[in-house]
Order: sequence, then C-alpha cells, then structure tokens
Amino acid sequence: MASSWAPVSTETPARADVADHAARRRRAISEQFKTERLVLPAGPLKVRSNDCDYRFRPHSAFAHLTGLGVDHEPDAVLVLDPVAEGKGDDGGHHRATLYFRPMAGRDTKEFYADSRSGEFWIGTRPSLAQFQAQLGLPTADISDLEVAITKNVGEPAVGGTSIRLMRKVDENIDALVDTARYNTAKDPDNMDFGALDELDAKLAEAASELRLVKDAWEIEQMKVAVAATIAGFEDIVKALPRAVAHKRGERVVEGAFFARAREDGNELGYDTIAAGGNNATVLHWNRNTGTVNEGQMILVDAGVEAESLYTADITRTLPVNGNYSEMQRKIYQAVLDAADAAFAVAVPGRKFRDVHNAAMEVLADRLAAWGLLPVTAEVALSAEGQQHRRWMPHGTSHHLGLDVHDCAQARAELYLDGVITEGMVFTIEPGLYFKDEDLAIPAEYRGNGVRIEDDILITANGPVNLSAALPRTPDDVEAWMARLSG
Ligand code: GLY
Ligand code: MN
Ligand code: MN
Repeated sequence: MASSWAPVSTETPARADVADHAARRRRAISEQFKTERLVLPAGPLKVRSNDCDYRFRPHSAFAHLTGLGVDHEPDAVLVLDPVAEGKGDDGGHHRATLYFRPMAGRDTKEFYADSRSGEFWIGTRPSLAQFQAQLGLPTADISDLEVAITKNVGEPAVGGTSIRLMRKVDENIDALVDTARYNTAKDPDNMDFGALDELDAKLAEAASELRLVKDAWEIEQMKVAVAATIAGFEDIVKALPRAVAHKRGERVVEGAFFARAREDGNELGYDTIAAGGNNATVLHWNRNTGTVNEGQMILVDAGVEAESLYTADITRTLPVNGNYSEMQRKIYQAVLDAADAAFAVAVPGRKFRDVHNAAMEVLADRLAAWGLLPVTAEVALSAEGQQHRRWMPHGTSHHLGLDVHDCAQARAELYLDGVITEGMVFTIEPGLYFKDEDLAIPAEYRGNGVRIEDDILITANGPVNLSAALPRTPDDVEAWMARLSG
C-alpha cells in the first residue's frame, strides 16, 4: 500500500502575518525567565469515545506564542532554551524551537495505517520546513523532544538548567519534566513539589498576563470573530419561526448559530446558551432543551471562534415575536442603562473594577425604584449589603481573546484590581435574572432573564464597542428583527 503514490508537495508557505507578533510575544516571555528552559505543550488529542477524538484545539498559550491556530498540532511542544546573554532570538535570552510530528511520507506505514496521524485517514499535515517557513520559527522532529527537554536539567547552582513547564496541558510532558527533576534533584526523596508547582504556575501567570493587552494582529482577529458572530445572530433571527414550531426550539437556535460558527470560523468559542423564557435566568443554561415561545424573550449568549482561535462573546436577549412587552422592555432598558454606564467608565486609567461598579449602581438604583430591594440602593451597594446581587450574581466584565475567559491566570493586581489600558479587550455584560421560583418579587417580573453583552476594545481615545453593529437598544432590536423577518 505504501508504493506508487505521487510525492508529497514540498512547497513552503509564505511567512504568516502573525509570525512577527508571535516572535515579539516570545521575546517578552524570554525577558521574564532569562536563564530557564520554558516548555509549552500544545496538548494531545482527547478521546471523546473509544477511538473517536474531539476536534483538536491547541492550548491557548501555545497558540499565542507560536502563532498557530485551527487544528495545529497535537502533541507539539514549544521549547524556549536559554542561551548566553544576547545570543537568543531577537537579542533575547532564549532560542525557540517547535517540536512536532511532521507528516510521514506516502511510502511509510503511518500514511495508511495510523488513523490519528496518517495522511490517508486525516489528510495532509505540515512538514518541518513548511511550519518553519510559515512561522519563522525553527522546527524539529518530535523524536528529538525528550532530549531537548531533559538535557542538562539540574540545579542552577551546579551549572544545571531549571525548567518551567506549562503544566496540565499534556500529561506525558508533565511526567517527562517531573522525572527529569526527580532524577537530577539533590535529595529526590524530599522534593518540594509545592514549590515546583509554584514555579510552573509563574509561567502560566506570565503567559496569561502577556495577553492582557492585545497586539494589532489580535485586534484584527477579534474583529473577524465578532463579525462572524453578528452574522450568526442574524441567522438566529431568521431561524426563530422554525424554533417556535419545534419541540426543542432552543436547539434550533443553537444549531443555526453553530452552522455559522463552522462555516465562517473554526468553531464555537464556548457552548452556546440559547435560553427561552425562564431558562434565561439559569446563567449557564446550555442544555438548550427548551421550547421557544411567542410572547417570551430568548437570551442567546454565543461566540464564533475564528480560525486563529480568537473568540467573540456576545449576548442579546430578543423578543421571540419581534416586540418587547412593557415589562420586558422595562427590564431590558435597565440592563442596557447599566451596560452604558459601565461603557462610560471603561477608559484608560480607570480601574477594571470601576466597570462592574458602574453597572451595579444603575441596577441597584433601578431595583430600588421598582420596590424590589428590601433596603435602599445605597445600603445594597455597600460591602455588607449587596442585596441587588440576588438578581445579578455574576461579574460584569472579563478579558476576552484566545480564551473566552482570557488571561484567567493573571494576578489580581493586573486584572480585577488592575488599570484599564489601551489594547485591552473585555466584555461588558450586565444582566437581571428574575426566576419563576423567586418569591421575593411580584409575579409579573418572574420568568424573565435579560443579559446584554458586548465586546469592548480600549483605545487611547476611549472604549470602542466591537459588537456595536449588532443592535442593542430595544427599538433597534425590534427594527432589526422586523427587517430580517420581512
Ligand atoms: N459566555 C460566557 C460568558 O459570557 O462569560
Ligand atoms: Mn462573557
Ligand atoms: Mn457570554
């Protein structure tokens, strides 16, 4: 079977636009860990059932530091090896190499017999030369990886190289590093695993913090993801009549969006929440087994992940029949006012926390005005109060990028307690959730959940709502739905 096949193409692709950005990101990480070997796995294929795997997605830090997206590349590992001062890439302290399993030739058994990596089964994969040209990054065969990770490992005090590992991405690499550390420890039987975990966690923290401010290429990718997501919301509106007629209408909505995510992007950035009526009050309702009913609202929280793996994260709460009722509009307007107040303070120099606080002030005031709060808005907004959180228990903002909850390992002083900086991208997503089961409020409020979520880019001139092209005021939503349905 391994004969009489045309040779594999040896054409090399052009250097990708992302290559220079990825090199700059690696240079920034190099600066923080000057003398240490940095090991960042992409992760392995994950079994879904028996011999069927999930679609592959590399770990986000690996994607960020290599510039790779889509399905590249199972089991690959980026190694940044420390070198003498000034001898590293771009004058840095490390030389980077991407280790992966290049596609085997058509004259090999792998070609026809390996269902996980053989070309006959999964299609072509890159060669070492192709990735090297595309990424501007030296590549090497995965068979060289073990030596690359373990060579000269040891205590720096005696001339050894210490490793920092992006842990819990690939358990084979965790085991390899653990073994290397154990074999070279001065006192292997009394190793301080807690200290080693902390050492590794610092790499995860640094990689996370590096993404707090997006570069120009990342911002373009966010725009690509947002544009596809907006198109997906249009598809949802067009699918509403079919959703209303279906016994699991929420799945019709989910499916309409998913089709767009696969057609225009790589995937979903996270499982779509398609929540009709009272289901909208379940914050992570992604079973999506419910009906979609005229007269109710449907909350849809969905994001397309682009081929580059950057994702949008947008929520709209739509009137199923195209028009908000008076009560629906009243709740919707309160949430919109909270979002606008949050947007107004999302400016460089303000604290990230101010965004949430601004939204909470509006919601507490409104809940007090409606007579729902058992205390004044002022008491509710105090640290001991927080009574309004019964109806809005989640955060108002999170960073967004390669992960829907991006930069999650960043230190609090740079994230929650951090200062808003040009180049940041985060969501603003206040909501109000009045459950059918909530006996603390009058019946007419119950069964309504509203969230409005937009993706915000911070510029020197203030915030830009990347998702502003998706209507968000009640009048605009109704007009948009009428146009799409007409
Ligand atoms: N879709 C998840 C979130 O809004 O955070
Ligand atoms: Mn979000
Ligand atoms: Mn969301």
